[in-house]
Amino acid sequence: MENGSLPRHVAVIMDGNGRWAKKRGLPRTLGHKAGTENVRRIVKYCSKKGIKYLTVYAFSTENFRRPQDEVGALMRLLIQYFNNETDELKENGVRLNVIGDISEFQPKVREAIQNGLDKTKDCDGLVFTIALAYGARAEIVRAVKSIIDEGCEVTEETVSKHLYTFDMPDPDLIIRTSGEERLSNFLLYQAAYSEFYFTKTLWPDFDESEMDKALEEFAKRDRRYGGV
Ligand code: FPP
Repeated sequence: MENGSLPRHVAVIMDGNGRWAKKRGLPRTLGHKAGTENVRRIVKYCSKKGIKYLTVYAFSTENFRRPQDEVGALMRLLIQYFNNETDELKENGVRLNVIGDISEFQPKVREAIQNGLDKTKDCDGLVFTIALAYGARAEIVRAVKSIIDEGCEVTEETVSKHLYTFDMPDPDLIIRTSGEERLSNFLLYQAAYSEFYFTKTLWPDFDESEMDKALEEFAKRDRRYGGV
């Protein structure tokens, strides 16, 4: 594939961990563990491919409503990820970034996240953004409030610049795994001209060859941004 048709920013709704586990008679938390291992694999692959921005939806504002033990397991996986992966990410030039309101997370989760962000802040390869306690409507409301507080003019540009994603290009390609075909409050404003790719493959099974299929499909799309 020629580089011109490679998306600059790929965003992923990582769905289907629970079903992956259920199919194997395993607890849901093991599905999330397998999902985390796949995050590792896909980050490496996108970095190798020369994709500049990868954003994943790891925990929505709605996910707080899941049973406490599942939320706890997800938090432990996040702590492990930030504690154990950061050195390797740094070696590969990956800069970690987080979007969302993590103020509701426990201090030890926030600390692990902050350490990861600090350690990789000077990396200039792939920007790997993890959406945590993220909801797009809340993000837009927050942006509008800060525009009002600052007394700025409300324009498409100022709204963009007050979103969590102020320093990133909009996603070119949004992938959702596991057969659901909706955005579920992810990057609503930023997705205005994104291409969508849906696959029945469950997130833990979405490997390098599945990513290649998505990238090939993207390369075939004719993006007109409302023009002709
Ligand atoms: C959706 O599957 C997945 C989630 C709600 C969590 C995604 C989290 C991870 C992959 C792990 C942590 C991430 C990082 C970046 C370290 P689901 O539980 O809704 O699956 P189901 O629809 O089959 O039940």
